[in-house]
Amino acid sequence: MTETSTVPAPAELGAEGLRAHVASLLERSRARSTALTDAVDEADLVAQHSPLMSPLVWDLAHIGSQEELWLVRDAGGHQPLRPEIDGLYDAFQHSRASRVDLPLLTPPETRAYVAEVRDKALDALERSPLTGRRLVDRAFAFGMIVQHEQQHDETMLATHQLRAGAPVLQADAPPPAAAPRGAREVLIPAGRFTQGTSTEPWALDNERPAHPVDLPAFVIDAYPVTNGEYAEFIAGGGYDDPRWWTDAGWKHRTEAGLVAPQFWERDASGQWWRRRFGVVEPVPADEPVVHVCFHEAAAYAAWAGKRLPTEPEWEKAARHDPATGRSRRYPWGDEEPTPAHANLGQRYLQPAPVGAYPRGVSAHGVHQLIGDVWEWTSSGWEPYPGFEVFPYPEYSQVFFGGDYRVLRGGSFGTDAAAIRGTFRNWDHPIRRQIFSGFRCARDATAAEAAEGRL
Ligand code: AVJ
Ligand code: FE
Repeated sequence: MTETSTVPAPAELGAEGLRAHVASLLERSRARSTALTDAVDEADLVAQHSPLMSPLVWDLAHIGSQEELWLVRDAGGHQPLRPEIDGLYDAFQHSRASRVDLPLLTPPETRAYVAEVRDKALDALERSPLTGRRLVDRAFAFGMIVQHEQQHDETMLATHQLRAGAPVLQADAPPPAAAPRGAREVLIPAGRFTQGTSTEPWALDNERPAHPVDLPAFVIDAYPVTNGEYAEFIAGGGYDDPRWWTDAGWKHRTEAGLVAPQFWERDASGQWWRRRFGVVEPVPADEPVVHVCFHEAAAYAAWAGKRLPTEPEWEKAARHDPATGRSRRYPWGDEEPTPAHANLGQRYLQPAPVGAYPRGVSAHGVHQLIGDVWEWTSSGWEPYPGFEVFPYPEYSQVFFGGDYRVLRGGSFGTDAAAIRGTFRNWDHPIRRQIFSGFRCARDATAAEAAEGRL
């Protein structure tokens, strides 16, 4: 599938450069939406592959509907193209499970609708000053809509993973691990760092504002937990011992009958196999584990004598530069992701083995924080101090305070335009159809904290 881009950050561009940048990102997201929806036939597009997911044709029209709302009507000042369909594609009016029963646009109608919206959005891009009014300042609304389409492209990829039948998506194998793999844990010394951002032009409301956080010394895994490590937890009876699970976790494990990550199956010889986009293959030991829920991640961490990192711990490990004291945009620095930094953008349809991205390492020496798998943290979904809704409460605010847990870092299914060091994702602790894995952390011992090293 398509490459991640190497174009400069929107902050560095003049108006014409910014327009060209936005246009190329809109084109990239549409190429991906098209590839994901052209890969299957019409019956498949309108089918419910899982009650957890929308029919693919709903995601596509919803992408167009949000683009129409913010770029065509608001930024562009146009009248509604098809006001009668607004409600159908409002995520708050219909649950994912019920969308299959709505009088949705057909696949050809949907394709025509999103193409018409795109024409008018590109026209709005030409005519907008991209400065002044906050919604369009530095092309914010355009960046928000690029991210929105890419988020639904990741959701559609998860629908593809749940879909039964022959494989329809292909990609190359990810790069191998660069030998040798370094230390397994990293000490992050006590001290203050800046969490969140007030300057990243396309950061969403929940990433703002930048604010100081003081953390005691802690230790974090240098790599995400692998399939091989996770298989040891299973073999050691981890799913059968309530000691490792919280009460809510054990209840869910029991009711849902969890015995392994989603899509795994063991044969008579004890070998684990997984189904990945319709292909059944041996589970690769060195890849980050994926398709585990928060409860499974937390149980593994307890079994390993550790815990999940908190959200600020994850961000400090990812962004804090001890040489300058400032927080970077990405673990490796301020430059936009390239294919050498991280496994992003559906370039490979699986995580890469741990150690495959030495160029993506953080200042503290932590690997693969961006890309490969979303990482569960122990933190709930809450606003930062000084949070302000922008531009609409249904993106972030209405979800604050629920049972959600924060995930960080993006996955192989996330586009570079839709991830950064400050980006925050959230989901229910039982969800695992998303591309979710984790790494562990622990408190530093008094000796480690005093010495400043492990
Ligand atoms: C941020 C991934 C939780 O998919 O529910 C898409 C993103 N919001 N359309 C989601 C989103 C509105 C959101 N997550
Ligand atoms: Fe949406």
